[in-house]
Formats: sequence, C-alpha cells, structure tokens
Amino acid sequence: MNNFEFYSPTEFVFGRDTESKVGKLTAEAGAKKVMIVYGGGSVVKSGLLARVEKSLKEAGIEFVELGGVKPNPVDTKVYEGIELARKENVDFMLPVGGGSVIDTAKSIAVGVCYDGDFWDFYEGKAEIKAALKVGVVLTIPAAGSEGSGNAVITNKDLKKFGIRAPKLLRPVFAIMNPELTMTLPAWQTASGVVDMMVHIFERYFTNTKNVSISDRLCEGILLSIIEEAPKVMANPNDYDARANIMWAGTVAHNGTCGVGREEEWTSHQMEHEISALYDVTHGAGLAVVFPAWATYMAKHHPAYVYQMATRIFGVPEGDDKTAVALQGVERLKKFWKSIGMPLTFKELGVENPDIDLLVKNLHRNKGEEFGFYVKVNPAISREIYEYCI
Ligand code: NZQ
Ligand code: ZN
Repeated sequence: MNNFEFYSPTEFVFGRDTESKVGKLTAEAGAKKVMIVYGGGSVVKSGLLARVEKSLKEAGIEFVELGGVKPNPVDTKVYEGIELARKENVDFMLPVGGGSVIDTAKSIAVGVCYDGDFWDFYEGKAEIKAALKVGVVLTIPAAGSEGSGNAVITNKDLKKFGIRAPKLLRPVFAIMNPELTMTLPAWQTASGVVDMMVHIFERYFTNTKNVSISDRLCEGILLSIIEEAPKVMANPNDYDARANIMWAGTVAHNGTCGVGREEEWTSHQMEHEISALYDVTHGAGLAVVFPAWATYMAKHHPAYVYQMATRIFGVPEGDDKTAVALQGVERLKKFWKSIGMPLTFKELGVENPDIDLLVKNLHRNKGEEFGFYVKVNPAISREIYEYCI
C-alpha cells in the first residue's frame, strides 16, 4: 500500500427533515451573509428552497440567491456569482442541489478570494490558497461533490476541467435527506447510480499491490449499489433504498476507497469530452464509455477486470483471464441496461459522434499519453471511443 494523507472534515447530517438544520449549521460555521446557489427550478417546485430560506431567517442569517445553474455547469455562471458575491459581501456559499450546483458554488468560493481569473485554477496556472466556506444541501446522489474536494466546470472552448483542493473545497457540512431524492426523474437516479459506481471503479482499477482493505471496500459498496439500485428504480419512494444509494454516492467519492492506491480516471476524462461536446448527462455518458474502456483493458491488462468479474459479478474463475473479464463487462452492461441506461452513443442520443474531435480534444486537454492502469495514447482512446458505437 502507498503512503497517503487523507483529510475529510465534512460534517454529514443525514436523514429525514435534516434540511431544517441548515440555519443552525450555517451559523455555527460562522456565516453572516450566505449565497444560496440552485439549478433550473426543481428546488423551487419541491418547496425545498422555501424551507432553506425559512431556516436561515430563523437563525438570523442574511442571504442572496443565484439560480439557473445548468447541468454540465459553465464558467459564465461562476463569473456572475463572483460578481454578486463581491457586491453583496457574501462570506459563505450554500449550494442546494447536485454536482452542477455544488461545483458552481465551489468555483465561486475560490474565485471570490482571488484577484485574477478563477479559470487560472482550472488551467493549473495558479494554486488555490483561499476559499469561502461551502455548506451543501444535497438533492441528488451522483457526483459526490458533497464530500469531495473537487469541482468540475466547462468553459467556452469546451474545456471541461476540474480543480482539486481537499483542505479548502470539502464542504464544512453536507445535509443529506434521502426523501429529497424521491422527486428525481428515473433517468437522473440511474445516471447517478452509474456515476457513483464509476467513481469506485476509477479507484478500484490500480497497479498498486497489497491494497486488500480498499479492494474490499470498493467491492462491498459496489455490491450494495447493485442490490439497492433496482429497488429505487422499482419504487422511487423506498426510503431505505434511497438512503443506501445516497450514502453510497458519498463514500464512493469522498476518497475513502482510493487511499493508499494509485487511481485511474481515464473513463472520466473520456466522458468529460463527450458531455462537453454534446451536453449529455455525465453518468449516462459514463455508462457508454466505461464498459468500452473496460473492454480494452480486458484484452490488454485483464487483472482487475477479471477481479471485478469474479468478485462482483459472480463470473466463475477460469484460466482464460480475458474471456472471464469480458463476461464481467457484459454483466455490468446488462445491469446498467436493466436500470435504463444507454450503452452506445446512439442510445445516448449522439447519432453521429465526431470521434476525431473527441480524440483531438481529449489529448489537447490531457496530454499525448495519460492514465495509470494502462496509459492511453490517441490510437487507444480512438479504439475505446469506437467501441461505444
Ligand atoms: O437544475 P434542477 O432543476 O435542480 O434539476 C436537476 C438537474 O436537471 C435535477 N435534480 C437534482 N435534484 C433533483 C432534481 N430533479 C428533481 N428532484 C431532485 N431532487 O437533476 C439534474 C442533474 O443535476 P446535476 O447537478 O447536474 O447532477 P449531478 O450531481 O450528476 O452533477 C453532474 C455534474 O457534476 C460533475 C459532472 O461532470 C457534471 O458536470 N462531476 C463533479 C464531480 C465532483 N465535483 O467531484 C465528480 C464527478 O465525476 C463529476 O464529473
Ligand atoms: Zn463522475
């Protein structure tokens, strides 16, 4: 196992009606003037926004609001938020929503504390040294941003990039009420399930030896997701299944599963090019690209694909590692299909994918060769994108 440093200070407040504690938690965090950030209106429709406002008022916390964040959030909303935060002397960010809303709030949090362009952080031109505190009210288990130190934003040049600063960007609190997720459209629930599974796979596929604790953590969480997800799809109001899926989304991505081992992340980088170009739902894009990546790996470096197949999908062991590994990939695809996820570009709604452009953008953004489990060059990434057709 590799050496590691792991700092995860978020206070998770989980369960029914926990959003009523948002005023108290925000006050305890020292906030005076809060910016509530939200998306396209689901929190208005459900009444959640009104409940959050009420709780803040009761705690004597002033607030301003920034709505209209879109999925696959863009830089323009961040600039708008930075300007508003400066004008209103905001000292605390309160995203109420999913990954897109949280990541916009995190980006505003770092942008407000920096004299230059916040995008410098995304290009690696500046180091994040300060940020406003962020507290979260989560409405969708998927991106895991409520426990992660990361944020992902797309700019006008179709660069969908991430920043990472665990000491500054992990939320101080995350309010997680599984009931809030009962209004999710089935497509978003299933996309979230895929995203959290791939967050685990990106850590599971490694060349680091002797990491049985995190191997088994990954496998245990994946097995539980595979058990609980069909219950949520069949009955969106099943509280306990919703609760298990919601917590799975957090532990999938708060770092626990990846400590002490080299992580992968190529599938995410390949998907980010797809959602930057075609504005598809991130998790649905992963349902297409991850099995394609795993197919390539089954043929060229089957070790962890074989382990996934035998330990998670119950494929019998065999001498032909690639054949066993490929069976595992087929079972994974079957599972994702069963919860309504696409497996090809066409099913994702991308009729004529521009693979030349995807490959070009990918390597423009990530370099000629990248990845850890197996390094990916333009010929390999092309082959993987072609498996998605
Ligand atoms: O905008 P509203 O109206 O709120 O609707 C949203 C949105 O359309 C809807 N929704 C959310 N909660 C709901 C609800 N609808 C009804 N009831 C509810 N309770 O769901 C849609 C998707 O929301 P979004 O925030 O985009 O979802 P998600 O959490 O999947 O976030 C995706 C973004 O996070 C990035 C992705 O790339 C993508 O941009 N990621 C962020 C990561 C991180 N910060 O660590 C890691 C991930 O790998 C990922 O890349
Ligand atoms: Zn993801």
